[in-house]
Amino acid sequence: MSDFDNLLDKKAQEAEEIIKSFLPAVEGYQKKVIEAMNYSVMAGGKRIRPVLMMEMFRIFGGTSEDTVKPFMAAIEMIHTYSLVHDDLPAMDNDEYRRGRKTTHVVYGPGMATLAGDGLLNYAFETAIRSFLSKESLTEFDGVIKDRKAMALKILAEKAGIYGMVGGQCADIEAEGKQSSTEDELIFIHENKTAAMLESSMMIGALLAGADSADIQNIEQAARKIGVAFQIQDDVLDVIGDEAQLGKPIGSDEKNEKTTYVTLHGIEDSKNEVQKLSNEAISILAEFDGAQDFLIPLVKWMISRNK
Ligand code: IPE
Ligand code: IPE
Ligand code: MG
Ligand code: MG
Ligand code: MG
Repeated sequence: MSDFDNLLDKKAQEAEEIIKSFLPAVEGYQKKVIEAMNYSVMAGGKRIRPVLMMEMFRIFGGTSEDTVKPFMAAIEMIHTYSLVHDDLPAMDNDEYRRGRKTTHVVYGPGMATLAGDGLLNYAFETAIRSFLSKESLTEFDGVIKDRKAMALKILAEKAGIYGMVGGQCADIEAEGKQSSTEDELIFIHENKTAAMLESSMMIGALLAGADSADIQNIEQAARKIGVAFQIQDDVLDVIGDEAQLGKPIGSDEKNEKTTYVTLHGIEDSKNEVQKLSNEAISILAEFDGAQDFLIPLVKWMISRNK
């Protein structure tokens, strides 16, 4: 493994430990839904969103990790819920995810729907815990509280109808439609995928003390990374390897999805991924410390095969 691979592995492991520490105990009469939630989260996954969040926190000089950790767990819970619902028979109807049977195959569609609902809600129950860290109990610092409130706002908005849910809505509506436009496709990618990467990166920087100009630049860079990431996902859906990906290929064709690949073909899609990530990297290169891990991570995300 290269130095970068080792570092990514280590950071993903750290994120995984943090996520795990916030998962609910499997007990009570609601134990089945909690089991399904934890099954989905602990199935694995690249943990890119919490890793990006922590890295932005580090780049902007964040010190109190107790502040960012609940948000790291929260973003992965929301992301996981989006996958659980995305795989449901009523949506993409996929049976394989993160190298395992999907949640609805193991627990049934009703329980998988609830597991998604549970994860979304528990994400906010978890993020709110950052208001109860030692820091906010001892320091009556309005600025820190305001930053957490703003982080909560970003977490909420980017996941909702003006973010991921909005993108998934347009994605479903475009199924089977021959006449989808470039504008619709960009809307889908920016919302179903980029929004969650935007929130991950913005929240990390925000909690560490970044100013609003920096946060706007980060949002822009993350949008480009997100669109590139989804184009790459669409490319891998055609030419990827199921065992490596841990999810089925051919899902988009089966569902007659409009993707960058259906509109432009594989070669142009690959070029677009490269172009967008170069643009993102030139924005991020302005930040001290971005070369250490952040920029290599962005390069890895778009050249990945899993
Ligand atoms: C999958 O996201 C869904 C998309 C937005 C393309 P990831 O590729 O980050 O999935 P995991 O978390 O590693 O399973
Ligand atoms: C879904 O995009 C992105 C989400 C918001 C879950 P896809 O449907 O292409 O994601 P995969 O390929 O199933 O991971
Ligand atoms: Mg989908
Ligand atoms: Mg899918
Ligand atoms: Mg896909």
